[in-house]
Amino acid sequence: MSRVAGKIAFLFFCGLISAGYWPLSVLALEKCQICHGKTDHHKVEATGRRISLYVDETILKKTVHASRECTDCHVDIVEIPHKGVQKVNCRRCHYSGNPVGAPEGELYDQYEHSVHGREVTAGNPEAPVCQDCHGGHDVFRHDLPQSKFSRENIPSTCGRCHIEIYATYRESAHGTALVAGNPDTPVCTSCHGEHNIKRPELPDSRVSAIHVSETCAECHGPKGVVAKYGIKTDRTTTFEESFHGVAQLMENMMVANCASCHGYHDIRTEADRKSSIHPDNIPQTCGKPQCHPEASARFASGKIHIDPTSEESGILYYISRGFLYLTVSVLAGLFIFIILDLVRRAREARAKR
Ligand code: HEC
Ligand code: HEC
Ligand code: HEC
Ligand code: HEC
Ligand code: HEC
Ligand code: HEC
Ligand code: HEC
Ligand code: HEC
Repeated sequence: MSRVAGKIAFLFFCGLISAGYWPLSVLALEKCQICHGKTDHHKVEATGRRISLYVDETILKKTVHASRECTDCHVDIVEIPHKGVQKVNCRRCHYSGNPVGAPEGELYDQYEHSVHGREVTAGNPEAPVCQDCHGGHDVFRHDLPQSKFSRENIPSTCGRCHIEIYATYRESAHGTALVAGNPDTPVCTSCHGEHNIKRPELPDSRVSAIHVSETCAECHGPKGVVAKYGIKTDRTTTFEESFHGVAQLMENMMVANCASCHGYHDIRTEADRKSSIHPDNIPQTCGKPQCHPEASARFASGKIHIDPTSEESGILYYISRGFLYLTVSVLAGLFIFIILDLVRRAREARAKR
């Protein structure tokens, strides 16, 4: 068939289709763009809202799904006209052992058990399925800046639904650092996880009362990245050795953890007047009814993260030094005593012979 004849045949098909005489299956499926490639293609909802049905194929071709056909995802579209189209099921390909080469692993099983997966199963229409987080026609590799899950975009992607938390986070020490381009500051997923996000009350959540201190310690602990920014990395050791830390080791869920004093989405520096650890706010922070209701301004004058081996700790430093010298001199005395005693015994033994 010549090219002209081919074109005529194609136009004829289109005519039949738009006249409703021909099932779509006869038409090559990539012809979706005859309609959806028009920038003004749209539908009008019963409410009068106009919804664009334009699909920019050039964008789709730059995504991880570049080599997918329209109907690989929109499997239920088998005829024209189509109405009541189903939501795409990404799991058609994204399961362990899939033949198409979609990334696989524990990731997806984790989603099923996450708060979001459970809410979806329970029928909550607000809870996200795959495309609500990742997008549909715009799933880019996450190391590209236009990905919904590039580091910079994670908070706004989660923040679409968790709006107030996003607003609070943006003003926090961590959130402002992200805007300033700090590559180490935590985003939502650094604290919560990705497909394994759990409700904070569940003991296996990364942010549960029992685990949150470990989560902060990934960065604020002895090997943490925060040292680069002049922030002390003794925060977790000084916490573990404190009364609060020891009580937590004994699985006392009521005792203060990092987040009880610092907050979590609104963590601010000590110098920030709005900070829970600003000296003016300490009585209120420590004085929560379940903690130290008697907390007075005096609480503010004491240090919380005490490292007795640092001179900054004042009297505690000298007391701990004093004990060190005392211990060393007692041990030294004992050692000398033992040596002298051995010498005496040796002399006595020789005298007896
Ligand atoms: C003849 C024009 C035409 C062709 C060809 C066509 N569509 Fe459509 N499509 C429409 C119209 C019109 C609607 C709106 C239907 C409605 O009012 O709900 C629509 C709706 C859709 C929707 C649902 C959008 C929504 O939110 O309601 C999807 C998905 C879709 N089409 C995908 C496809 C795919 C994939 C192909 C190719 C296999 C295709 N279409 C081919 C005209 C077309
Ligand atoms: C990787 C899977 C995937 C591929 C490939 C894909 N789509 Fe979609 N498409 C989606 C998702 C996800 C949505 C959002 C609605 C939903 O959740 O089902 C969507 C929505 C749509 C809509 C509704 C309007 C909109 O933009 O939200 C149309 C129309 C549509 N797709 C047409 C197409 C056409 C035409 C192609 C081929 C050029 C195509 N799709 C390829 C996943 C896909
Ligand atoms: C027809 C099969 C198929 C469907 C349906 C499908 N995917 Fe994929 N997806 C793939 C394949 C194959 C890859 C691997 C692409 C590659 O590595 O080149 C992939 C890769 C991905 C990636 C990896 C990105 C990265 O950072 O490497 C994400 C995220 C993703 N898909 C999300 C989705 C979402 C969300 C949906 C539903 C809207 C979906 N997929 C539907 C086949 C599919
Ligand atoms: C609450 C939001 C959310 C939901 C819902 C979600 N994901 Fe993800 N997903 C993420 C985040 C965050 C990452 C990590 C960033 C990244 O690597 O792209 C990720 C990573 C991925 C990756 C890339 C893994 C890799 O090896 O690089 C794939 C593929 C993926 N998700 C597929 C899915 C599929 C399929 C579903 C539905 C079963 C789903 N996601 C549901 C947030 C989500
Ligand atoms: C499409 C909307 C949507 C997106 C996107 C989304 N979530 Fe959610 N999320 C929900 C809904 C709905 C719930 C269940 C709310 C409830 O019942 O308390 C939820 C619950 C949660 C919970 C448990 C809340 C609680 O009170 O126990 C956490 C934590 C959470 N999401 C974090 C995230 C993070 C982190 C991201 C980004 C990776 C994210 N969400 C993306 C809608 C969303
Ligand atoms: C520095 C760590 C950290 C970061 C970053 C973080 N969160 Fe949280 N988030 C927590 C902790 C800790 C809790 C649990 C507090 C508790 O015990 O109730 C929490 C609780 C939640 C909850 C449950 C509701 C609530 O307010 O208690 C949601 C939803 C949530 N976070 C979403 C997000 C989103 C969305 C982002 C990003 C914009 C984010 N989180 C960033 C640590 C963090
Ligand atoms: C992914 C790594 C990471 C995690 C997890 C993390 N932080 Fe941070 N945090 C940082 C970085 C980096 C900074 C420095 C930001 C800046 O100012 O540039 C910082 C700053 C701070 C500051 C302000 C200190 C100052 O002087 O600027 C406090 C307080 C803080 N974090 C407490 C916490 C608490 C409490 C948690 C757990 C709920 C936590 N962080 C979890 C990396 C992390
Ligand atoms: C009992 C309350 C309390 C607990 C628990 C606590 N902190 Fe603090 N934190 C404070 C106070 C008060 C300050 C300011 C005075 C000081 O340095 O002792 C502070 C200071 C800090 C600073 C320096 C802030 C700045 O602006 O210089 C960081 C970082 C920090 N804490 C991280 C942590 C981490 C990580 C944990 C958990 C392992 C934790 N804190 C547990 C009360 C607490």
